[in-house]
Amino acid sequence: MKKVLFVCLGNICRSPAAEAVYKSYLETNGISDIEVDSAGTSAYHEGEPADQRMRDHARERGVEITSISRGFKRDDFENFDLIVTMDNSNYNTLVLKATSEEHKNKLTPFCHFLKTRTEKEVPDPYYGGADGFETVLDILKDGMENLHQRLIST
Ligand code: 4NP
Repeated sequence: MKKVLFVCLGNICRSPAAEAVYKSYLETNGISDIEVDSAGTSAYHEGEPADQRMRDHARERGVEITSISRGFKRDDFENFDLIVTMDNSNYNTLVLKATSEEHKNKLTPFCHFLKTRTEKEVPDPYYGGADGFETVLDILKDGMENLHQRLIST
């Protein structure tokens, strides 16, 4: 069973959305042997559901976000095959936490998988308006197919 972990800062906006968009992709395609989870480099929102705005924008696209925020744990390096970061800050934080090349090699920025878009990071929507949440969902949709191909070939 392949396992992927999406990571952002608070685990209430971008990475829960990524988790839900990928789960929705897997369900649509009848794929059940992949485990998907998400975490934050900060545990500041631990125990909270995802941001209501993120959930509302995702639901408009038929995607339900149900995850509860948790902080990234060292064990996650061992437990997941692929660890996908949303922005450079998340990536740099986890590179510093990695204790082996094997763990470091599991880290990949989400934007590495983009098919048609050109962003280098998934921008944090937390302090902005509705457009920011839509952009997050557009970016996630654009990268999921390549991410899936990479995960199953890992
Ligand atoms: P996320 O967004 O990293 O996409 O979950 C944020 C959520 C909360 C905060 C920052 C970013 N915050 O500062 O509380």
